[in-house]
Amino acid sequence: MTSEADRRPSAAPQMLRMINTVFIVQAVHVAAALGLADHLADGARDVDDLAKETGADADTLYRMLRLLGDAGVFQQEAERRFSLTPLGATLGSEGPESVRDWALFVGAPAMWEVWGRLHDTVMTGEAAFPQVHGMDLWEYLAQHPETGNPFDRWMSRQSEQHNAAVLASYDFSPFGTLADIGGGQGSTMAAMLQAHPSLRGVLFDLPHVVANPIPLQEAGLSDRCEVVAGDMLNGVPQGADVYLLKRALMDTGDANAVRVLRACAGAMTEGGRVLVVEMVLPSDRTPSAGTTFDLIMLLNHSGGRVRTETEFRELFSAAGLRLVRTIPTSSPNIILEGIRA
Ligand SMILES: C[S@@+](CC[C@H](N)C(=O)[O-])C[C@H]1O[C@@H](n2cnc3c(N)ncnc32)[C@H](O)[C@@H]1O
Repeated sequence: MTSEADRRPSAAPQMLRMINTVFIVQAVHVAAALGLADHLADGARDVDDLAKETGADADTLYRMLRLLGDAGVFQQEAERRFSLTPLGATLGSEGPESVRDWALFVGAPAMWEVWGRLHDTVMTGEAAFPQVHGMDLWEYLAQHPETGNPFDRWMSRQSEQHNAAVLASYDFSPFGTLADIGGGQGSTMAAMLQAHPSLRGVLFDLPHVVANPIPLQEAGLSDRCEVVAGDMLNGVPQGADVYLLKRALMDTGDANAVRVLRACAGAMTEGGRVLVVEMVLPSDRTPSAGTTFDLIMLLNHSGGRVRTETEFRELFSAAGLRLVRTIPTSSPNIILEGIRA
């Protein structure tokens, strides 16, 4: 007689598939690093051709493309000849759907080493990044442009993918000046200034990030935005009406998050607002993309975490702010609006 357990389909193949995605991630990273999607943008090409252009070993490249073909990233049109699928096209360096920079960052050896230290982090509660690299992620990115540039570009691209959702969910028209703290290279700022022609901006981030605020320059908006290099832990520019902290608190521990929120609360004009825009973990235990990002924060930043609304309410309160509204957007970000308590 077969028992209930015997009749149940085995879960092992599903688990094996999950484990084996590790190889796909590295193959996608290498495909991104070699710019294969750009090389295939005009149509199918022979592997030998691609190998010549990228400097790769032809047979190895073929075997990697065959794997990525099975995963739906490329299409094998004929023996050793591949074209791009819509999925693979997202590894192109341009276009609104591009995720190439995230693939470059996630699979970079420096980051891969950190992901491989989750066991240590789970045992100690300590972020792995500083243990592996002897410095925090921001310092590392400043010193290693080969990892820092894809990270900064991805911040801009990801923001482009989320900006319309933030703009549609919150009315920025009452404000004269917007300060974007930890604002990256200005992608969000550019979208805000474009949508609100009377708004002026202050873009604030670390010196190596704002040295070249490409999205602002490309949008021709540099004259409406002051670009300030600095460390938000040492204070923020004074006198803006609204302080935006978009995905800038999840990388920090509670004490530093309160410090930054308090600095914004103290710097804003009478009646001003602090807007924290990032993922918020649902309190009802529904699955959320936030749990993945929480782990990324845990590994990479001391004290970094994706928080619940209750946790944010406490941070706001400790910083002399009152959380007055929590506004969902059609992106993974939620807007938390604070006023002086
Ligand atoms: C996750 S990124 C978010 C960037 C941007 N707000 C966005 O939504 O795309 C965090 C940003 O905070 C900046 N940052 C980190 N620590 C900082 C500090 N102490 N002072 C100023 N900026 C900082 C980083 O350089 C980075 O651009």
